[in-house]
Amino acid sequence: PQPEPCNIVIFGASGDLTKRKLLPALARMHHWNLIAPNSRITGIVRNHEWDIDHWRSYVHDALQQFRPDCLSDTAAWQSISDMLALTVGDLSDAQTYTRLQETLISADGKTNVLFYLAIPPEWYERVASNLNAAGLLNESSGFRRIVIEKPFGSDLASARELNRTLREHMKERQIYRIDHYLGKEGVQNLMVFRFANTVFEPLWNRNYIDHVQISVSESLGVEYRAGYYEKAGALIDMIQSHLIQVMTLVAMESPVSLDGDAVRDEKVKVLKAVRPIPADRVSEFAVRAQYAGGTVEGKRIPAYRDEPGVDPDSTIETFAAIKLYIDNWRWQDVPFLLRTGKRLPNRVSEIAIRFKRPPMNLFSESSSQLPQNELIFRLHPDEGMVYLLNAKLPGLNDQLRELALDAPYAVAGADSPEAYETLLHDALLGQNALFSRADEVEESWRIVTPVMDAWKQKQSIRFYEAGSWDIPEIETMMQGCVGCWRDLSEHHQHGYSK
Ligand code: BG6
Repeated sequence: PQPEPCNIVIFGASGDLTKRKLLPALARMHHWNLIAPNSRITGIVRNHEWDIDHWRSYVHDALQQFRPDCLSDTAAWQSISDMLALTVGDLSDAQTYTRLQETLISADGKTNVLFYLAIPPEWYERVASNLNAAGLLNESSGFRRIVIEKPFGSDLASARELNRTLREHMKERQIYRIDHYLGKEGVQNLMVFRFANTVFEPLWNRNYIDHVQISVSESLGVEYRAGYYEKAGALIDMIQSHLIQVMTLVAMESPVSLDGDAVRDEKVKVLKAVRPIPADRVSEFAVRAQYAGGTVEGKRIPAYRDEPGVDPDSTIETFAAIKLYIDNWRWQDVPFLLRTGKRLPNRVSEIAIRFKRPPMNLFSESSSQLPQNELIFRLHPDEGMVYLLNAKLPGLNDQLRELALDAPYAVAGADSPEAYETLLHDALLGQNALFSRADEVEESWRIVTPVMDAWKQKQSIRFYEAGSWDIPEIETMMQGCVGCWRDLSEHHQHGYSK
């Protein structure tokens, strides 16, 4: 559906997120007719040298770089360009908000506004308070919603404090905490597979599932964000947000409806059931490492410590893995293994559900056990799912082979949306099921806190070679699980395009 006309106000309009993700997403939504006529896209920048022409050419350049298809038609560009407005000013200056107010337009008797905070987190509270002081969060003339990027806090205490102060200025239902993993088609499909089919749900529990592996492997490094990454590391950058969010969708019970609170109530129940990692046994449940120099996709890569902006003695992890248990009837004693890292050999993201082994092997004289079945939801590359089964090797023999039932999600000719397109569209429609609620964010901080604390205390880190999967001690986490970590290297991917 097409959302109501809206003023989309971007704080941090000259920043990288706006250029790479928000403007391309808005252009595509415009292309699909998902931005109502009489909408406006207002950028806010501090630089007094900017004027509306500068903003227009900035948007044009961003689209040229990241979404050139949206520029192929001059009329389309003209109508995007006509939607643009600019406010120049300092975010701590009340005048900026008065000027912003003047750019807002109304349609159908309403002045709807979606504020997007694409700014460093230290500004969130100040901007929320200034918006409120200027009356911009008052919903008497239309909706007022605020989208907030991660990191949402830097630990449990700061996340709680941020939630508390934001709620001094607005209601929880006005806050859209974005986690772009929830906007990925493959992640949304998890809910559809589980709750729109009958075949999986009976197996979806501790009786059949041995463990779950959620992996996000990146070949990229920290790029231009060393300053941020030096404070975050892989645990906070990826696990506290994206991987734990994905885990909740794998583990949750069926919600009573797709309403935002119904879905998030179920996710919070999962998070609350996650067994705390004992502070004195963190090394059994979590592994970290940092990349040393190496070769990734044929290119020489310097060590993380040699990257610009990184402390030469940094002990920040660029790889993290964590083993969680969910203490409830469905999942008691089933490990959920979450791992992610940068400068690994290739970019792969997936959720693998590993089933228990068949109870005996009828097919071979050796006493070896049959390989387990596995269901893999692939997020990248080529979203889709793969079911790994045992089948007979054709011929006069009784040998078995692995059969991969591989089903890509892509439908020929169909264009699937990017995560930011889905999420911006939902935010404009007021659908918040794919955004994190305050209690979800706080619970996920609670889960990672013992690991953060232990790692902060230990001033040493082990290394892996960039471009390799040789992570020290990673295998110890598989104790008690069927099989090993899934091999994500290119030559070993079932059904992955080569
Ligand atoms: C971001 C992290 O949230 O997600 C980045 O801050 C990471 O470090 C990125 O690279 C990964 O997202 P995707 O969609 O490319 O898997």
